[in-house]
Amino acid sequence: MKDEDFAGKVAVLTGAASGMGLLAAMRLAKAGAKVVMCDLDEARLRQEVERLTFNVESEGWTGSVCACVTDVRKFEDAEKAAALAMEKFGGIDILIPFAGGNEARICGTKGIPFYEQPVETIDWGIDVNLKGTVYFARACMPAMIAAKKGVICLIGSVMGIEADRIGAMYGAAKSGLFNFVKSLALAGGPYGVRAVCVSPGPVLTRPGMSTMATVRGTAAQPDELVNVILYLCSDDASFVTGTNILVDGGHMCVPAASV
Ligand SMILES: NC(=O)c1ccc[n+]([C@@H]2O[C@H](COP(=O)([O-])OP(=O)(O)OC[C@H]3O[C@@H](n4cnc5c(N)ncnc54)[C@H](O)[C@@H]3O)[C@@H](O)[C@H]2O)c1
Repeated sequence: MKDEDFAGKVAVLTGAASGMGLLAAMRLAKAGAKVVMCDLDEARLRQEVERLTFNVESEGWTGSVCACVTDVRKFEDAEKAAALAMEKFGGIDILIPFAGGNEARICGTKGIPFYEQPVETIDWGIDVNLKGTVYFARACMPAMIAAKKGVICLIGSVMGIEADRIGAMYGAAKSGLFNFVKSLALAGGPYGVRAVCVSPGPVLTRPGMSTMATVRGTAAQPDELVNVILYLCSDDASFVTGTNILVDGGHMCVPAASV
């Protein structure tokens, strides 16, 4: 994978104000891509877009970034992001819907079993992790089909395979993506549009992830995930479509008793 692979490409990223989404936006802009950075956290998004724009100008990066304040739970926001990419940059080559997370952590209902979770928490888990991704794929894919090229890289999780008695919707939604990626690949294949899903194990976008077991003995640095995600979005991965790829440091190999 070379930087040139992304020169002039247009990428739409959700969850782009933080964590892996922000890092991927930075690396794509550095490699010459035009990135529509979508996030619900307007203050943080504007601050990061300003910071990356400064880097573009001061360090001579060939790409660019712009902000799109978006709630992935609203289809009209997904359409707004796709329209911005088309109007400002003339197409959509890459979609990476990073926005997601465990509903009990985000909604502050950790420690409460699923059967006592507020319905608002349950809705957040399904709506952000599954529906938000579906909405963005639905909104961005027509541009790819028309151009006869494009890549959609969904973000799953090892929790799509494992159980959680508290944040049960997170795993249910992420496992839904394992099937959805196959349908996207099937629908897009005749038009040269690929779809892949990357399922991380623990990633140090926050310190809490360091306690999750891996064969390697440590959680991933965010760059270790973004390396794989960008490779899959590059032409080097032209034969990879319709599949879920675990990038978990061997987490799934660790016997359950020691997790
Ligand atoms: N960090 C990990 O260990 C890990 C492990 C497995 C999978 N993942 C997945 O990777 C993805 C990124 O994780 P991260 O830890 O880098 O992210 P993060 O928690 O640092 O950032 C998530 C971003 O999504 C945004 N967001 C939340 N709700 C939104 C909404 N309704 N609309 C638009 N934006 C919204 C937040 O504002 C935030 O900027 C997620 O889908 C997550 O489930 C992460």
